[in-house]
Amino acid sequence: MNNYLACPKCHEPLSLENRTYRCLNNHCYDLAKSGYINLLLNPDKATTNPGDSKESLIARRDYLNSHHYDSILDQVIQLIKKYAGSTELNDLNILDLGCGEGYYTYGMYQSIPANISGLDISKIGVNMASKYSKDITWIVGNSKNIPIIDHSLDFVTALFTVVNQSELERVLKENGKIIHVTANSNHLIEFKQMIYDEIIEKSDKFIRLDLPIVEQYDFTKKELIENREDVLNLLKMTPHYYHISTHKRHILDELDSLEITIDIKITVYDAMESLL
Ligand SMILES: C[S@@+](CC[C@H](N)C(=O)[O-])C[C@H]1O[C@@H](n2cnc3c(N)ncnc32)[C@H](O)[C@@H]1O
Ligand SMILES: [Zn+2]
Repeated sequence: MNNYLACPKCHEPLSLENRTYRCLNNHCYDLAKSGYINLLLNPDKATTNPGDSKESLIARRDYLNSHHYDSILDQVIQLIKKYAGSTELNDLNILDLGCGEGYYTYGMYQSIPANISGLDISKIGVNMASKYSKDITWIVGNSKNIPIIDHSLDFVTALFTVVNQSELERVLKENGKIIHVTANSNHLIEFKQMIYDEIIEKSDKFIRLDLPIVEQYDFTKKELIENREDVLNLLKMTPHYYHISTHKRHILDELDSLEITIDIKITVYDAMESLL
């Protein structure tokens, strides 16, 4: 069981008693029926349901369970094994930040049965994630105020999600690692070509962390999706779906199969300097 949870209000450790987590200042948080813990403070929410929409989360769950993105999961698992050092895999403390509906978190747990937590700002997403396994600690929380004790994690994984450098430095152990997965400009280029009249290259400068890089590489792969439902789910889990103009909606009728490009950057950062 997880012993590194901290109170999001005062950052003191939380301990579990009769389905209630409590800190020494008596701030209490109940375990939900489905087993997740809500550690999101009201001031951290911009809306009632922050994070990805339910429609997009369901599409993500169904698409990821079609296994077309398992090569991305495999990369993350191999990197955790590679950088675990002398720590037994079972003893690792791992947080999957912005875990969404939890597919990758659960996939990691199946290969590395460590102390794994998944955190997302979306309660709908975390509630869905809690269905995968009760052995993972599922947290509704904000990556800008991570409810985890200082310097207690060996790894933070962040796949296609926002990261906050000072919080990562605070929660990682000395030599702890961040595995950051981000999309390159050619990622799902086929959708962009279909949907936009002009493709504007976005700078990825703002998603880079100012920490020592241990390893960085681009991972690219073509993937043939032969099923209309999977193609539509993939499209719906990206922002592109919500940008299709009315005069282009007919493309949805023709999407019976599609070869897509996976083009992502995987960066392993070292939190070593966080303690200096
Ligand atoms: C593109 S999804 C990726 C989800 C998952 N990592 C995956 O690859 O399937 C981005 C996720 O980040 C979450 N998110 C956005 N802002 C967040 C924040 N401040 N704290 C925690 N999660 C956040 C969203 O709710 C969403 O689930
Ligand atoms: Zn407290």
